[in-house]
Amino acid sequence: MNNLNEKRILITGASRGIGEAIARHFAKLGFFTILVARTEIDLARVKREIINSGGKADYVVSDLSSEEEANNLSQKVTLNFGFVEYIVLNAGISTNSVFLSQTNSNFQQELWVNYLAPLLFLKNILNEMVEKKQGKIVTISSIAGLLPFPGNSTYAASKAALISLSITMNIEFKKHNIYIGSVLPGLTKTSMTKDYESFVLPFSEPEEIARCVEEAFQYEKTIVIPGIFNNVITTLYKHFPEPLNILLSSLTSIFIPSPATK
Ligand SMILES: NC(=O)c1ccc[n+]([C@@H]2O[C@H](COP(=O)([O-])OP(=O)(O)OC[C@H]3O[C@@H](n4cnc5c(N)ncnc54)[C@H](OP(=O)(O)O)[C@@H]3O)[C@@H](O)[C@H]2O)c1
Repeated sequence: MNNLNEKRILITGASRGIGEAIARHFAKLGFFTILVARTEIDLARVKREIINSGGKADYVVSDLSSEEEANNLSQKVTLNFGFVEYIVLNAGISTNSVFLSQTNSNFQQELWVNYLAPLLFLKNILNEMVEKKQGKIVTISSIAGLLPFPGNSTYAASKAALISLSITMNIEFKKHNIYIGSVLPGLTKTSMTKDYESFVLPFSEPEEIARCVEEAFQYEKTIVIPGIFNNVITTLYKHFPEPLNILLSSLTSIFIPSPATK
């Protein structure tokens, strides 16, 4: 069991990409980091590297596309680490395929990992947070939850659901001294966006998203959108959706990069 005064943070999807960067960032800030993902070999590598740089880390292997495992995660975490005050619900997948090419199994996996597993996890941990009047949660959604993302309609919908859940729950749980915010990255350099590498659009580095998560926790911001370009485009879309819809329709082929996904 950890030192009870030590701040603990749980990060889902911490085996690579944005989640790994968040874990490294918070380990540097002195947090005990609890890493969650499916791939043990990657989790063990991140844990080892954090410890080798003087930080503290451990991991839990969990497949958040399975209802049973998503439901059990909170129990496993409490059993192994006790109460965890800081939570980052980052794990996510994008099937990156047009609507009619998707299978029912694709739809369900995406919805589970991106929306239902975070929802279930929150349902399981919030009672203890309410009792303790203590808890800080950040979800990693996407600007795709606010903008059309051609070729990724079901991903965008799952991310929109996560934003709605976070902003409404933040209001509901404020009276219990619990904060729930959401960070909405745009394109970020990770394995998720390898099909988009040739895009001329600006990409964020995963470390920038990690800094935004710290900012969200520090100032208890409801929504943080990393990067000037992503802020400009989401503001423009909010005020002038129709011209941007026309522009995006003409660019659809660019957003669906691989012939295999058409
Ligand atoms: N990259 C972007 O441009 C971008 C933009 C906006 C939002 N986001 C969001 O940022 C988050 C992180 O994305 P990323 O770019 O870092 O993607 P990534 O490099 O593909 O990493 C995804 C992480 O989620 C974990 N994961 C995937 N399926 C899982 C499952 N069934 N159960 C448990 N963990 C699972 C992966 O680990 P395992 O495979 O080991 O399970 C990995 O650690 C996602 O929610 C994504 O939607 C990304």
